[in-house]
Amino acid sequence: MEIFIDTANLDDIRKYADYGIIDGVTTNPALIAKEGQNFLEVIEEICAIVDGPVSVEVVGNTSKEMINEARRISKLHKNIVVKIPASLEGFKALKVLGQEIRTNFTIVYSSNQALLAAKLNATYVSPFVGRLDVNSTNGTNLINEIVKIYQNYNFQTKILAASMRNSVYVKEAALSGAHVATIPPEVIEPMMFNELTELSLDGFLKAWNELPQNKKIF
Ligand code: E4P
Repeated sequence: MEIFIDTANLDDIRKYADYGIIDGVTTNPALIAKEGQNFLEVIEEICAIVDGPVSVEVVGNTSKEMINEARRISKLHKNIVVKIPASLEGFKALKVLGQEIRTNFTIVYSSNQALLAAKLNATYVSPFVGRLDVNSTNGTNLINEIVKIYQNYNFQTKILAASMRNSVYVKEAALSGAHVATIPPEVIEPMMFNELTELSLDGFLKAWNELPQNKKIF
């Protein structure tokens, strides 16, 4: 499974890239706006830190606007993947862009949206697991359905599990067979850190240090 980091915060991207666990980055207009920096400079910096797919979303409303923006955004760097929202206009845009550039069809809430995105040759499809759960619909079931549909017809579109608001969603996405999970920084840390690990390690080292001759070995 590939792990993308879901943020436009450069410090966080650097921090987790240094662990060697980040394969790519996803942003959205809200994440970019949160950083309050120049859009083009932020994207350039992100591409310099992570050598993998970097998703950048269009902000136009009509398919024509989306297509124009997408063509420009895709030229910013070889690793750019353009996010197209799963609106009706987004479907029209994907029909054209799916033949031209790498796309991430995003804000997906149903397996039928994902089915049609695959038919239009989306590179990635992003089901929003956490936001579905907030609306009393099981987001992991959506991932399971999309995995099954894509397997049935051997679609090449990759399933990018998004809106991973806790580490349980990530585990469930991995068990379902999602190709990628995009994870916010505050959820990556709890995936690594476990209090029991710390406690056990403390016990091991305490026992080791109780023997004075051990201290001289390393
Ligand atoms: C995905 O690409 C989105 O940026 C993101 O996963 C949305 O997450 P949220 O629902 O927590 O805002």
